[in-house]
Amino acid sequence: MAARKVILDCDPGQDDAINQLLAMSSPDDLEILGITAVAGNVPLPLTQRNARLICDIGARPDLRVFAGREEPLQRPLVTAEYVHGANGIDGIDIYEPDHPLQEQHAVDFIVETLSAAKAGSVTLVPTGPLTNIASALQKAPDIAQSIESIVLMGGAMREGGNCTPSAEFNIYVDPQAAKIVFDCGRPIIALGLDVTHKVLATSARVDRIRALDNRAASATVGMLDFFNRYDTAKYGSLGSPLHDPCTCAYLLAPELFTEKSCNISVEVDSELTMGHTAVDYWNVTDKAHNAMWVHDVDADQFFGLLTERLARFTG
Ligand code: RIB
Ligand code: CA
Repeated sequence: MAARKVILDCDPGQDDAINQLLAMSSPDDLEILGITAVAGNVPLPLTQRNARLICDIGARPDLRVFAGREEPLQRPLVTAEYVHGANGIDGIDIYEPDHPLQEQHAVDFIVETLSAAKAGSVTLVPTGPLTNIASALQKAPDIAQSIESIVLMGGAMREGGNCTPSAEFNIYVDPQAAKIVFDCGRPIIALGLDVTHKVLATSARVDRIRALDNRAASATVGMLDFFNRYDTAKYGSLGSPLHDPCTCAYLLAPELFTEKSCNISVEVDSELTMGHTAVDYWNVTDKAHNAMWVHDVDADQFFGLLTERLARFTG
């Protein structure tokens, strides 16, 4: 079976970086057409540098990294250094990688790639604010027909918000962009906090990755050791939720996840609930179903998949 064509849109971020490594570990399953960076966890100059650094660590000089939008569509940028550290992927040695940044703007790359692609042939995998994706859809609405699906990390229902009481970070940072994406008419697979909070990077799970002997695994452990400090203190949990790798894990092993067809609407008016994802899980409205809400996962199998794929890196 041919590898699935994907574009990773991200704001690395330790969890974005581990998702990128997971995608890079599986070239027979995922053909990465490009990696597009967006401002989010940290400003754009750092997210694009981090994406290039992960390409270096994963020894994938073939992959193209593009810098996208520096600011959300309408709102001022909100970042999360308090979670991810000043560099965004703190926990590993940070250096300026030789891996080049493409000159083309990420939004233009997305438009150009989808404009040339066959109908329904490209899966978008956004794990940060949806600014780049929304900008591309605004610039060239016809590109939507080339999107197979949008498998995104974002939103929250029963879990409540992680940066306001009612909003998850990726949606909160650019709610206008999220509304454009959720209303675009293409299949949306939304992996929100309800599922990501079930995949906790406990010490036993991290130690199984620590036992691997390659740069990618070592970087993953270093990032997790740093990433774990904030959420374990905040939630009193035994490890941090590995949010973004749920997207590529879903693509590689959808059978590990449980989902429900719903309407998901994004709050863009109320400051109190800005960025809230109203997931109509019980169909209490007659709104059209625009997404699959992924709400459960086999966490042990998830970490087994991640560990097995990280073991594939050599060197
Ligand atoms: O709320 C978690 C999400 O926000 C993750 O994608 C994390 O990387 C941050 O972008
Ligand atoms: Ca992210």
